[in-house]
Amino acid sequence: MNKRRPAGSAEKDYRSLLVHENLPGHVAIIMDGNGRWATNRHLPRLAGHRAGIDTVRKIVKIAGELGIRYLTLYAFSVENWRRPKSEVSGLMRLLGTFLRRETKELDRQRVQVSWIGRVDEFPAKVVAELERSRDITVDNDGLRLILALNYGARREIVEAVRSIVSAVGEGQIDAADISEDMVSQYLYTSEISDPDLIVRTSGEMRLSNFLLWQAAYSELWITDILWPDFTENDFCHALYDFQHRARSYGGITGKHGAADKV
Ligand code: FPP
Repeated sequence: MNKRRPAGSAEKDYRSLLVHENLPGHVAIIMDGNGRWATNRHLPRLAGHRAGIDTVRKIVKIAGELGIRYLTLYAFSVENWRRPKSEVSGLMRLLGTFLRRETKELDRQRVQVSWIGRVDEFPAKVVAELERSRDITVDNDGLRLILALNYGARREIVEAVRSIVSAVGEGQIDAADISEDMVSQYLYTSEISDPDLIVRTSGEMRLSNFLLWQAAYSELWITDILWPDFTENDFCHALYDFQHRARSYGGITGKHGAADKV
């Protein structure tokens, strides 16, 4: 069942219930529902994306405050080019503006900005803003914010396969030595631990080509709440539920025993 927010005052203060030693090191979020949020208000879809940026700001801030190490946000998928031109260019503009306006504050919060995905296919102006944010924040030791931009997991895996095949062809590696660890090293995320928790807003029960290799053992938390309505407390709710799950990685869980084997 998807998570819903209880009506009115019944909502718990999840932040106060979190155990700080047991937070996920890496949270990845599929930020969905901006379009529906806007349509519900008879607004253009771009207004939903704009409202979504306010949520990005809030969630980045609280993730940093809580001491989460990595936060990956699925901001633009390889499939998103299929949207109307005006929406795509609007999203590019919003991303550029976000980086230009927010980098100073992100830097103050000691956030380190980076990205995964083929941003070389983005407009040069946006790439310049990304590089500027990365360069300004490169030495920060707080939250590492990873924007998934023009990202597609299948494409990432295909590129890794190509690189491995070419390294084998050049005699740099032996095909017999190809291992799961080696494949991980050829992905965009080679320097990042796999996501412990993947959150998806707005109710869809799928991964949509997001971190398919890395998600092998991730806990999934899906809510009906639309991304622009998603709050810091909702984020803490996901973390709280994560802390009450038993992760077995295919073995037997310590918490609930063999019945919970996955
Ligand atoms: C999905 O909602 C959301 C996106 C495709 C883009 C997400 C982008 C942002 C939140 C803003 C830019 C991000 C950053 C990091 C500055 P949807 O449009 O698919 O919603 P729908 O399913 O209701 O139509």
